[in-house]
Amino acid sequence: MKFICLTLLLVSGITDSRSEQYTVVGPADPVFAVAGEEVILPCSVKPSISVVDMRVEWFRLDLKDSPLVHLYDDHEDRNTDQIQSYRGRTKLIHEELQRGNASLKLSTVRVSDEGRYKCFIQSKSWSDDATIDVRVEAVGRPPVITVDGFDRSGGLHLLCESEGWNPEPDLEWLDSEGVSLSSETTETHRNTEGFSLKHTITVYHSDDKIHCRVKLKHHMLETLINTTNNMFISWRTSVILISVFVVLVVIAGILIAVFVHKKRALDQLQDEHRTLQNEKRTLQDEHRKIQHERDKLLQSQKIIFPKAVAHLRTHTVKVTLDADTAHRRLIVSHDGKQVKYGNTLNAVDEGKHRFDYYLGVLGKDGFSSGSFYFEVQVKDQTEWDLGVTRESSKRSGISLSPDVGYWTVGWLNKSYWARDSTYVSLSLRVKPQRVGVFVDYDQGLVFFYEMESMFHIYTYTDQSFKKRLYPYVGLGYQSNENSTPLIICDD
Ligand SMILES: *[C@@H]1O[C@H](CO)[C@@H](O)[C@H](O)[C@H]1NC(C)=O
Ligand SMILES: *[C@@H]1O[C@H](CO)[C@@H](O)[C@H](O)[C@H]1NC(C)=O
Repeated sequence: MKFICLTLLLVSGITDSRSEQYTVVGPADPVFAVAGEEVILPCSVKPSISVVDMRVEWFRLDLKDSPLVHLYDDHEDRNTDQIQSYRGRTKLIHEELQRGNASLKLSTVRVSDEGRYKCFIQSKSWSDDATIDVRVEAVGRPPVITVDGFDRSGGLHLLCESEGWNPEPDLEWLDSEGVSLSSETTETHRNTEGFSLKHTITVYHSDDKIHCRVKLKHHMLETLINTTNNMFISWRTSVILISVFVVLVVIAGILIAVFVHKKRALDQLQDEHRTLQNEKRTLQDEHRKIQHERDKLLQSQKIIFPKAVAHLRTHTVKVTLDADTAHRRLIVSHDGKQVKYGNTLNAVDEGKHRFDYYLGVLGKDGFSSGSFYFEVQVKDQTEWDLGVTRESSKRSGISLSPDVGYWTVGWLNKSYWARDSTYVSLSLRVKPQRVGVFVDYDQGLVFFYEMESMFHIYTYTDQSFKKRLYPYVGLGYQSNENSTPLIICDD
C-alpha cells in the first residue's frame, strides 16, 4: 500500500512538472541604456505561460554575492533586500507577467547600472534563467577650458576638463582650421559616475580659436577658447612681474645677507670693544696702583729727601765765581756770588782764558777728590747751564758735553737738557728754582737736584774725571735777553 501511494505521488509530480516546462529567454545582444532615461531589460518565458504564480528574481551577476535587483514572489514585489541604489527605480508590469513577460523596467538609469543581470524564474516544479548584458551610455558635462599658466618660451598652458562620461570618451584639441592638436598630458579617472578626463596643451599663437572636443559614438560636446593677444600680454606682464619679484627677492636676500654679515661684524666689534674696555679697566686699575705706589714713593721721598739733602749739604763748598774766566758780556758781582748778562762787551783784557761763545764762568776753586756740593738759584732766569768742568777744558768753540769735559744740565729754548753723549731731553714736573749740584769725584757721579720742589733732575754715572773739577755756571750762549742773575747760595 505504501509503495502504491509513493508511486502515485511520483507519477503525479512528473506529470505536473512536465506541464510546467518552459525556457527563460533574454536578448542575445547587450542592452544599451542612456543615463538618466529608462530602459527595459527584456526577459520572458517560452512558451508564453503566465508567471503570475511563479517567483521572478532579478539580480546582478557581476557583483559580489550576486545582490538582488528585484524580487517578485507569492504574487507580490518583495524588495526589502534590494540593492540600495535600485530602490524605487525597478518595476515589473503585472499584466505582462500573465503573458509570460518578466521584463524589468529600470528608470533614471545610472552609470553604475552597467553590468550583467540574471533573470531567474521559478515555478513550484521548474526553474530557468537568462543573462542580460546592460551597457550604459552617459554623456558627461560640457568641457571646461582653463588657462593654467605660461611657458617660459611664451606659450599659453591650457587645461580641458570634463567628467561624467561612459564609456570612456575621446578628447581632442582642434585649432581654428579644425586641425587636431595632440595633448601634452592626459589623465583619466573612473568612478561610479563615469569617466573624467583632464588634458593639457600649450599654444603659442594669439588670435586663435582652440576647441576642446569630447565625444562618444553618438554624442559630442565641445568648448572653445579664443586666445586673445591680451592673454599673451598678461603673460608678458606676469613674466615682468615675476622677474621684478625675483629681482626684489634676490635684493632682499642680499640685503639680509649683508645685514647678517654686518651684524656679525658688529657683534665682533662689540666683543672687541668689551675686551678693550676690560683691558682699559685693568690698565686703569694698574695705573691707579702705580699712582698709589708713586704717591707712596713720593711720600717716602718727602721724608727721605730732606735727610738726603741734609746729607748732601754736609759737602757744601763755598763757591766764588772767577770773573777772569767769564764771557765778556757777563757781569760777575764783586763778591763772586752772582752773575748776569750785561749786554755790552766789558772792556776787560782779552788775554785771559775766557769763554767766548758760551756765556759761562767757573768757580775759583776746584776739587780733585771726595765729594762736594753747591747750590745755584736759577729762579726767573730763562736760559741757564749748571755743572762742573775741568780747568783744562776748552772754553771756545765747544759744546757742553762730557766728551770735552763738561757735565751739565740746562734750560734752553724752553726745554731742559742734559748733554750726555747725546742730548737727553728731560721732562720736569715743575720749573726748577734752585738747583743743587753734587759731585762724587771718586765714584764718577754728578747729581742734579731741584731743591725747592725736591726732585731729582739728572745723574751722570760712571764718569772718569782725571783732572780737578770746577763749578760751571752759564747763561746760555752768545746772548741772553734776561738780565736776572744766577746766584750762588751759601746758606
Ligand atoms: C514585455 O513588456 C514590456 C513592458 O514591460 C514591453 O515593452 C515589451 O515589449 C514586452 N515584450 C514582449 C515580448 O511583449
Ligand atoms: C571667440 O570668438 C568668436 C568669434 O570669433 C566669438 O563668437 C566667441 O564668442 C568668442 N568666444 C569667447 C569665449 O570670447
